[in-house]
Amino acid sequence: MAAERAKADSQTETWNDPDAVPYIRIENVTKKFGDFVAVNNVSLDVYRGELFALLGGSGCGKTTLLRMLAGFEQPTTGKIYIDGVDMADIPPYERPTNMMFQSYALFPHMTVEQNVSFGLKQDRVPADEIKKRVGDILDMVQMRNFAHRKPHQLSGGQRQRVALARSLVKEPKLLLLDEPLGALDKKLREATQFEIMNIQDRLGITFMVVTHDQEEAMTLATRIGVMNHGQIVQVGTPKEIYEYPNTKFVADFIGSVNLFEGYIQEDEADHVLIASEEAGCPIYIDHGISAAPGAEVFVAIRPEKLELSKTSTGTGHNCTPGTVKGVAYMGNLSVYLVQLDSGKEVKISMSNQRRAAEHAIDWDDRVYVTWHANSPVALLS
Ligand SMILES: Nc1ncnc2c1ncn2[C@@H]1O[C@H](COP(=O)(O)OP(=O)(O)OP(=O)(O)O)[C@@H](O)[C@H]1O
Ligand SMILES: [Mg+2]
Repeated sequence: MAAERAKADSQTETWNDPDAVPYIRIENVTKKFGDFVAVNNVSLDVYRGELFALLGGSGCGKTTLLRMLAGFEQPTTGKIYIDGVDMADIPPYERPTNMMFQSYALFPHMTVEQNVSFGLKQDRVPADEIKKRVGDILDMVQMRNFAHRKPHQLSGGQRQRVALARSLVKEPKLLLLDEPLGALDKKLREATQFEIMNIQDRLGITFMVVTHDQEEAMTLATRIGVMNHGQIVQVGTPKEIYEYPNTKFVADFIGSVNLFEGYIQEDEADHVLIASEEAGCPIYIDHGISAAPGAEVFVAIRPEKLELSKTSTGTGHNCTPGTVKGVAYMGNLSVYLVQLDSGKEVKISMSNQRRAAEHAIDWDDRVYVTWHANSPVALLS
Protein backbone atom coordinates (compact mmCIF):
# COMPACT_ATOMS: atom_id res chain seq x y z
CA MET A 1 0.00 0.00 0.00
CA ALA A 2 3.06 2.29 -0.11
CA ALA A 3 2.04 3.24 -3.62
CA GLU A 4 -1.37 4.29 -2.44
CA ARG A 5 0.09 6.58 0.21
CA ALA A 6 2.37 8.33 -2.25
CA LYS A 7 -0.57 8.84 -4.55
CA ALA A 8 -2.78 10.28 -1.82
CA ASP A 9 -0.13 12.92 -1.12
CA SER A 10 0.19 14.07 -4.69
CA GLN A 11 -3.50 14.04 -5.54
CA THR A 12 -5.90 16.40 -3.84
CA GLU A 13 -9.31 14.87 -3.63
CA THR A 14 -10.89 16.78 -6.52
CA TRP A 15 -14.03 14.69 -6.33
CA ASN A 16 -14.78 16.14 -2.88
CA ASP A 17 -14.40 19.72 -4.11
CA PRO A 18 -17.91 21.07 -4.87
CA ASP A 19 -16.45 23.66 -7.30
CA ALA A 20 -14.40 21.18 -9.33
CA VAL A 21 -15.55 20.64 -12.90
CA PRO A 22 -15.48 17.00 -14.01
CA TYR A 23 -13.32 16.10 -16.99
CA ILE A 24 -15.59 13.19 -17.92
CA ARG A 25 -19.28 13.33 -17.20
CA ILE A 26 -21.32 10.22 -17.86
CA GLU A 27 -25.00 11.00 -17.45
CA ASN A 28 -27.62 8.25 -17.20
CA VAL A 29 -25.96 6.21 -19.91
CA THR A 30 -27.61 2.98 -20.99
CA LYS A 31 -26.38 0.69 -23.75
CA LYS A 32 -28.58 -2.03 -25.15
CA PHE A 33 -27.62 -4.69 -27.65
CA GLY A 34 -31.04 -5.74 -28.90
CA ASP A 35 -32.98 -6.49 -25.72
CA PHE A 36 -29.86 -7.04 -23.68
CA VAL A 37 -28.88 -4.21 -21.35
CA ALA A 38 -25.07 -4.18 -21.20
CA VAL A 39 -24.74 -0.84 -19.39
CA ASN A 40 -27.64 0.19 -17.20
CA ASN A 41 -28.22 3.87 -16.38
CA VAL A 42 -24.66 4.71 -15.35
CA SER A 43 -23.83 8.18 -14.08
CA LEU A 44 -20.26 9.01 -13.16
CA ASP A 45 -17.97 12.03 -12.92
CA VAL A 46 -14.21 11.63 -13.33
CA TYR A 47 -11.80 14.50 -12.73
CA ARG A 48 -8.70 15.60 -14.61
CA GLY A 49 -5.58 13.72 -13.58
CA GLU A 50 -7.47 10.86 -11.97
CA LEU A 51 -6.61 7.26 -12.50
CA PHE A 52 -10.07 5.78 -12.29
CA ALA A 53 -10.36 2.01 -12.19
CA LEU A 54 -13.45 0.15 -13.37
CA LEU A 55 -13.64 -3.12 -11.56
CA GLY A 56 -16.11 -5.93 -11.96
CA GLY A 57 -16.67 -9.52 -13.04
CA SER A 58 -16.63 -10.75 -16.60
CA GLY A 59 -19.51 -9.46 -18.72
CA CYS A 60 -20.57 -6.66 -16.35
CA GLY A 61 -20.18 -3.94 -19.01
CA LYS A 62 -16.69 -2.48 -18.43
CA THR A 63 -15.46 -2.69 -22.03
CA THR A 64 -18.79 -1.41 -23.34
CA LEU A 65 -18.53 1.68 -21.12
CA LEU A 66 -14.94 2.38 -22.30
CA ARG A 67 -15.93 1.90 -25.95
CA MET A 68 -18.66 4.52 -25.52
CA LEU A 69 -16.09 6.96 -24.08
CA ALA A 70 -13.79 6.31 -27.02
CA GLY A 71 -16.67 6.69 -29.48
CA PHE A 72 -16.71 3.13 -30.85
CA GLU A 73 -20.23 2.61 -29.50
CA GLN A 74 -23.06 5.10 -29.09
CA PRO A 75 -25.14 5.13 -25.89
CA THR A 76 -28.71 3.96 -26.46
CA THR A 77 -29.78 6.70 -24.05
CA GLY A 78 -27.87 9.20 -21.91
CA LYS A 79 -25.04 11.64 -22.49
CA ILE A 80 -21.27 11.64 -22.36
CA TYR A 81 -19.30 14.87 -21.97
CA ILE A 82 -15.52 15.09 -22.13
CA ASP A 83 -14.00 18.39 -21.09
CA GLY A 84 -17.44 19.94 -21.21
CA VAL A 85 -18.13 18.87 -24.81
CA ASP A 86 -21.10 16.64 -25.66
CA MET A 87 -19.59 13.63 -27.43
CA ALA A 88 -22.78 12.56 -29.24
CA ASP A 89 -21.61 13.71 -32.68
CA ILE A 90 -17.85 13.48 -32.19
CA PRO A 91 -16.17 10.57 -34.00
CA PRO A 92 -13.45 8.54 -32.24
CA TYR A 93 -10.55 10.22 -34.06
CA GLU A 94 -11.69 13.68 -32.98
CA ARG A 95 -11.93 12.77 -29.30
CA PRO A 96 -9.05 13.55 -26.91
CA THR A 97 -8.88 9.83 -26.16
CA ASN A 98 -6.73 6.86 -26.96
CA MET A 99 -7.90 3.36 -26.21
CA MET A 100 -5.83 0.27 -25.61
CA PHE A 101 -8.02 -2.69 -26.46
CA GLN A 102 -8.36 -5.83 -24.41
CA SER A 103 -7.31 -7.77 -27.53
CA TYR A 104 -4.26 -5.49 -28.13
CA ALA A 105 -5.09 -5.09 -31.86
CA LEU A 106 -1.51 -4.58 -33.04
CA PHE A 107 -0.87 -4.16 -36.76
CA PRO A 108 0.37 -7.63 -37.75
CA HIS A 109 2.50 -6.53 -40.71
CA MET A 110 4.40 -3.87 -38.77
CA THR A 111 7.35 -4.27 -36.43
CA VAL A 112 7.14 -3.31 -32.77
CA GLU A 113 8.79 0.02 -33.53
CA GLN A 114 6.47 0.76 -36.45
CA ASN A 115 3.43 -0.14 -34.36
CA VAL A 116 4.44 2.25 -31.61
CA SER A 117 5.43 5.11 -33.92
CA PHE A 118 2.37 4.80 -36.20
CA GLY A 119 0.17 7.35 -34.42
CA LEU A 120 2.99 9.88 -34.11
CA LYS A 121 3.74 9.63 -37.84
CA GLN A 122 0.06 10.21 -38.60
CA ASP A 123 0.24 13.34 -36.47
CA ARG A 124 3.33 14.44 -38.46
CA VAL A 125 5.59 14.61 -35.41
CA PRO A 126 9.21 15.33 -36.55
CA ALA A 127 11.26 12.17 -37.19
CA ASP A 128 13.93 12.74 -34.53
CA GLU A 129 11.27 13.41 -31.90
CA ILE A 130 9.45 10.21 -32.89
CA LYS A 131 12.68 8.27 -32.55
CA LYS A 132 13.29 9.61 -29.07
CA ARG A 133 9.76 9.17 -27.77
CA VAL A 134 9.41 5.66 -29.18
CA GLY A 135 12.82 4.68 -27.78
CA ASP A 136 11.92 6.02 -24.34
CA ILE A 137 8.57 4.29 -24.20
CA LEU A 138 10.02 0.98 -25.43
CA ASP A 139 12.60 1.22 -22.66
CA MET A 140 9.85 1.79 -20.19
CA VAL A 141 7.97 -1.36 -21.17
CA GLN A 142 11.28 -3.21 -21.56
CA MET A 143 10.76 -3.94 -25.25
CA ARG A 144 13.59 -2.03 -26.92
CA ASN A 145 15.43 -5.24 -27.76
CA PHE A 146 12.36 -6.44 -29.65
CA ALA A 147 11.89 -3.26 -31.69
CA HIS A 148 12.34 -5.04 -35.02
CA ARG A 149 10.15 -8.05 -34.40
CA LYS A 150 6.62 -8.46 -35.69
CA PRO A 151 3.69 -9.19 -33.34
CA HIS A 152 3.50 -12.92 -34.24
CA GLN A 153 7.10 -13.27 -33.04
CA LEU A 154 6.17 -12.06 -29.54
CA SER A 155 4.62 -13.68 -26.48
CA GLY A 156 1.21 -12.54 -25.23
CA GLY A 157 2.73 -10.43 -22.46
CA GLN A 158 5.18 -8.82 -24.89
CA ARG A 159 2.37 -7.95 -27.31
CA GLN A 160 0.47 -6.42 -24.43
CA ARG A 161 3.46 -4.23 -23.55
CA VAL A 162 3.72 -3.03 -27.15
CA ALA A 163 0.03 -2.16 -27.16
CA LEU A 164 0.50 -0.24 -23.92
CA ALA A 165 3.51 1.61 -25.35
CA ARG A 166 1.52 2.47 -28.47
CA SER A 167 -1.29 4.03 -26.45
CA LEU A 168 1.04 5.89 -24.05
CA VAL A 169 3.40 7.32 -26.64
CA LYS A 170 0.75 9.69 -28.03
CA GLU A 171 0.20 11.22 -24.60
CA PRO A 172 -3.54 11.71 -25.11
CA LYS A 173 -5.52 13.72 -22.58
CA LEU A 174 -7.66 10.71 -21.77
CA LEU A 175 -6.23 7.23 -21.90
CA LEU A 176 -8.62 4.31 -21.85
CA LEU A 177 -6.90 1.06 -20.96
CA ASP A 178 -8.82 -2.20 -21.14
CA GLU A 179 -7.07 -4.81 -18.99
CA PRO A 180 -3.64 -3.37 -19.84
CA LEU A 181 -1.56 -5.66 -17.65
CA GLY A 182 -3.51 -8.92 -17.60
CA ALA A 183 -0.89 -10.97 -19.46
CA LEU A 184 2.16 -9.80 -17.51
CA ASP A 185 3.86 -11.76 -14.74
CA LYS A 186 3.69 -10.39 -11.21
CA LYS A 187 7.04 -8.62 -11.20
CA LEU A 188 6.66 -6.94 -14.58
CA ARG A 189 3.11 -6.08 -13.70
CA GLU A 190 4.14 -4.27 -10.53
CA ALA A 191 6.96 -2.44 -12.32
CA THR A 192 4.57 -1.36 -15.07
CA GLN A 193 1.98 -0.24 -12.52
CA PHE A 194 4.56 2.11 -11.05
CA GLU A 195 5.51 3.38 -14.49
CA ILE A 196 1.87 4.10 -15.28
CA MET A 197 1.58 6.05 -12.04
CA ASN A 198 4.77 7.98 -12.89
CA ILE A 199 3.51 8.84 -16.35
CA GLN A 200 0.22 10.00 -14.89
CA ASP A 201 2.03 12.22 -12.40
CA ARG A 202 4.39 13.61 -15.01
CA LEU A 203 1.93 14.27 -17.82
CA GLY A 204 -1.29 14.78 -15.89
CA ILE A 205 -3.13 12.38 -18.21
CA THR A 206 -6.54 11.20 -17.04
CA PHE A 207 -6.80 7.40 -17.05
CA MET A 208 -9.74 5.04 -17.06
CA VAL A 209 -8.40 1.56 -16.49
CA VAL A 210 -10.49 -1.58 -16.67
CA THR A 211 -9.32 -4.48 -14.63
CA HIS A 212 -10.46 -7.83 -13.28
CA ASP A 213 -7.80 -7.61 -10.66
CA GLN A 214 -8.84 -5.90 -7.46
CA GLU A 215 -5.32 -5.74 -6.06
CA GLU A 216 -4.26 -3.84 -9.15
CA ALA A 217 -7.17 -1.43 -8.77
CA MET A 218 -6.27 -0.89 -5.11
CA THR A 219 -2.66 -0.07 -6.02
CA LEU A 220 -3.24 2.09 -9.07
CA ALA A 221 -6.43 3.99 -8.64
CA THR A 222 -7.36 7.36 -7.20
CA ARG A 223 -10.91 5.98 -7.16
CA ILE A 224 -12.58 2.74 -8.06
CA GLY A 225 -15.99 2.16 -9.61
CA VAL A 226 -17.28 -1.32 -8.91
CA MET A 227 -19.62 -2.64 -11.61
CA ASN A 228 -22.17 -5.42 -11.45
CA HIS A 229 -24.72 -6.32 -14.15
CA GLY A 230 -24.21 -3.10 -16.11
CA GLN A 231 -24.49 -0.81 -13.10
CA ILE A 232 -21.91 1.02 -11.04
CA VAL A 233 -22.72 -0.18 -7.55
CA GLN A 234 -20.13 1.81 -5.60
CA VAL A 235 -17.62 4.58 -6.30
CA GLY A 236 -14.92 5.47 -3.81
CA THR A 237 -11.24 5.62 -3.01
CA PRO A 238 -9.55 2.22 -2.61
CA LYS A 239 -9.66 2.70 1.14
CA GLU A 240 -13.36 3.60 1.18
CA ILE A 241 -14.26 0.64 -0.99
CA TYR A 242 -12.20 -1.72 1.13
CA GLU A 243 -13.11 -0.39 4.57
CA TYR A 244 -16.69 0.67 3.89
CA PRO A 245 -18.18 -1.50 1.15
CA ASN A 246 -21.83 -0.53 0.70
CA THR A 247 -23.15 -3.96 -0.20
CA LYS A 248 -22.39 -7.62 0.38
CA PHE A 249 -21.47 -7.84 -3.30
CA VAL A 250 -18.75 -5.19 -3.01
CA ALA A 251 -17.44 -6.56 0.32
CA ASP A 252 -17.17 -10.01 -1.17
CA PHE A 253 -15.73 -8.84 -4.48
CA ILE A 254 -12.98 -6.64 -3.02
CA GLY A 255 -10.45 -8.61 -1.02
CA SER A 256 -10.97 -11.43 1.33
CA VAL A 257 -13.78 -11.03 3.85
CA ASN A 258 -15.67 -12.96 6.53
CA LEU A 259 -19.43 -12.50 6.25
CA PHE A 260 -21.88 -13.29 9.06
CA GLU A 261 -25.61 -13.34 8.58
CA GLY A 262 -27.63 -11.80 11.40
CA TYR A 263 -30.35 -9.37 12.42
CA ILE A 264 -30.40 -6.08 14.26
CA GLN A 265 -31.26 -6.30 17.94
CA GLU A 266 -30.45 -2.78 19.06
CA ASP A 267 -29.79 0.25 16.90
CA GLU A 268 -28.74 3.31 18.87
CA ALA A 269 -26.95 6.47 17.75
CA ASP A 270 -23.62 5.26 19.13
CA HIS A 271 -23.80 1.51 18.60
CA VAL A 272 -25.60 -1.44 17.08
CA LEU A 273 -25.97 -4.91 18.44
CA ILE A 274 -26.48 -7.70 15.96
CA ALA A 275 -27.61 -11.21 16.81
CA SER A 276 -25.87 -13.78 14.65
CA GLU A 277 -26.07 -17.54 14.92
CA GLU A 278 -23.26 -17.86 12.41
CA ALA A 279 -20.92 -15.66 14.44
CA GLY A 280 -21.76 -17.61 17.59
CA CYS A 281 -21.92 -14.43 19.68
CA PRO A 282 -23.63 -11.02 19.52
CA ILE A 283 -21.76 -8.55 17.33
CA TYR A 284 -21.32 -5.10 18.85
CA ILE A 285 -20.41 -2.24 16.50
CA ASP A 286 -19.40 1.11 17.97
CA HIS A 287 -21.38 3.33 15.60
CA GLY A 288 -24.99 3.46 14.56
CA ILE A 289 -26.42 2.49 11.19
CA SER A 290 -29.89 3.44 10.11
CA ALA A 291 -31.93 0.30 10.00
CA ALA A 292 -35.03 -0.95 11.72
CA PRO A 293 -34.71 -3.39 14.61
CA GLY A 294 -35.13 -6.89 13.29
CA ALA A 295 -33.71 -5.97 9.86
CA GLU A 296 -31.54 -8.68 8.32
CA VAL A 297 -27.93 -7.73 7.77
CA PHE A 298 -24.62 -9.17 6.71
CA VAL A 299 -21.69 -8.27 8.87
CA ALA A 300 -18.36 -8.08 7.05
CA ILE A 301 -15.06 -8.35 8.89
CA ARG A 302 -11.72 -8.46 7.09
CA PRO A 303 -9.33 -11.31 8.05
CA GLU A 304 -6.69 -8.85 9.33
CA LYS A 305 -9.25 -7.31 11.71
CA LEU A 306 -9.85 -10.61 13.54
CA GLU A 307 -7.63 -11.73 16.39
CA LEU A 308 -6.94 -15.04 18.04
CA SER A 309 -6.59 -15.67 21.71
CA LYS A 310 -6.52 -18.70 23.98
CA THR A 311 -8.66 -16.91 26.56
CA SER A 312 -12.10 -15.33 26.35
CA THR A 313 -12.42 -11.56 26.69
CA GLY A 314 -15.48 -12.17 28.90
CA THR A 315 -17.47 -9.23 27.45
CA GLY A 316 -20.24 -11.40 26.04
CA HIS A 317 -19.87 -10.03 22.53
CA ASN A 318 -17.25 -9.88 19.73
CA CYS A 319 -15.64 -13.04 21.10
CA THR A 320 -16.52 -16.50 19.83
CA PRO A 321 -14.98 -19.93 20.39
CA GLY A 322 -13.64 -22.24 17.71
CA THR A 323 -10.95 -24.68 16.68
CA VAL A 324 -7.94 -24.04 14.44
CA LYS A 325 -8.35 -26.12 11.28
CA GLY A 326 -5.40 -24.83 9.31
CA VAL A 327 -2.45 -22.48 9.28
CA ALA A 328 -0.90 -21.25 6.04
CA TYR A 329 2.45 -19.49 6.10
CA MET A 330 2.60 -16.84 3.42
CA GLY A 331 5.92 -15.08 3.83
CA ASN A 332 5.17 -12.02 5.93
CA LEU A 333 1.68 -13.25 6.84
CA SER A 334 0.09 -16.30 8.39
CA VAL A 335 -3.49 -17.13 7.57
CA TYR A 336 -5.49 -19.18 10.07
CA LEU A 337 -8.60 -21.09 9.21
CA VAL A 338 -10.81 -21.45 12.28
CA GLN A 339 -14.02 -23.42 12.49
CA LEU A 340 -16.28 -21.62 14.94
CA ASP A 341 -18.44 -23.73 17.25
CA SER A 342 -21.38 -22.40 15.22
CA GLY A 343 -20.01 -24.39 12.27
CA LYS A 344 -18.97 -21.30 10.28
CA GLU A 345 -15.38 -21.17 9.02
CA VAL A 346 -13.48 -17.89 9.28
CA LYS A 347 -10.15 -16.64 8.00
CA ILE A 348 -7.79 -14.66 10.19
CA SER A 349 -4.58 -13.16 8.91
CA MET A 350 -1.78 -12.03 11.14
CA SER A 351 1.63 -10.59 10.39
CA ASN A 352 4.35 -13.04 11.35
CA GLN A 353 5.97 -10.39 13.53
CA ARG A 354 2.83 -10.19 15.59
CA ARG A 355 2.48 -13.94 15.52
CA ALA A 356 5.97 -14.48 16.97
CA ALA A 357 5.27 -11.98 19.71
CA GLU A 358 2.14 -13.81 20.82
CA HIS A 359 1.74 -17.32 22.17
CA ALA A 360 2.05 -19.73 19.30
CA ILE A 361 -1.32 -20.97 18.13
CA ASP A 362 -1.39 -24.14 16.11
CA TRP A 363 -3.56 -26.73 14.38
CA ASP A 364 -6.38 -28.19 16.51
CA ASP A 365 -5.95 -25.60 19.28
CA ARG A 366 -9.12 -24.34 20.95
CA VAL A 367 -9.20 -20.57 20.50
CA TYR A 368 -11.36 -17.47 20.79
CA VAL A 369 -11.79 -15.30 17.73
CA THR A 370 -12.19 -11.66 18.79
CA TRP A 371 -12.46 -8.27 17.13
CA HIS A 372 -12.64 -4.61 17.97
CA ALA A 373 -16.02 -2.86 17.97
CA ASN A 374 -14.95 -0.58 15.10
CA SER A 375 -13.90 -3.42 12.77
CA PRO A 376 -17.18 -4.88 11.51
CA VAL A 377 -19.25 -3.27 8.74
CA ALA A 378 -22.98 -3.99 8.72
CA LEU A 379 -24.45 -4.31 5.22
CA LEU A 380 -28.13 -4.21 4.48
CA SER A 381 -28.09 -6.26 1.29
N1 LIG B 1 -21.73 -6.12 -29.78
C1 LIG B 1 -22.40 -6.78 -28.85
N2 LIG B 1 -23.55 -7.41 -29.13
C2 LIG B 1 -24.26 -8.07 -28.19
N3 LIG B 1 -23.88 -8.18 -26.90
C3 LIG B 1 -22.73 -7.59 -26.55
C4 LIG B 1 -21.92 -6.87 -27.48
N4 LIG B 1 -20.84 -6.39 -26.85
C5 LIG B 1 -20.96 -6.80 -25.56
N5 LIG B 1 -22.08 -7.52 -25.38
C6 LIG B 1 -22.55 -8.10 -24.12
O1 LIG B 1 -22.61 -7.07 -23.15
C7 LIG B 1 -22.15 -7.55 -21.90
C8 LIG B 1 -21.03 -6.66 -21.40
O2 LIG B 1 -19.90 -6.88 -22.23
P1 LIG B 1 -18.50 -6.19 -21.94
O3 LIG B 1 -17.60 -6.58 -23.04
O4 LIG B 1 -18.72 -4.74 -21.72
O5 LIG B 1 -18.11 -6.90 -20.58
P2 LIG B 1 -16.78 -6.73 -19.70
O6 LIG B 1 -17.22 -6.21 -18.38
O7 LIG B 1 -15.78 -5.95 -20.44
O8 LIG B 1 -16.32 -8.25 -19.53
P3 LIG B 1 -14.84 -8.90 -19.53
O9 LIG B 1 -14.30 -8.65 -18.17
O10 LIG B 1 -15.11 -10.34 -19.76
O11 LIG B 1 -14.04 -8.26 -20.62
C9 LIG B 1 -21.76 -9.00 -22.08
O12 LIG B 1 -22.81 -9.82 -21.63
C10 LIG B 1 -21.57 -9.12 -23.58
O13 LIG B 1 -21.88 -10.42 -24.02
MG1 LIG C 1 -13.98 -6.44 -21.29
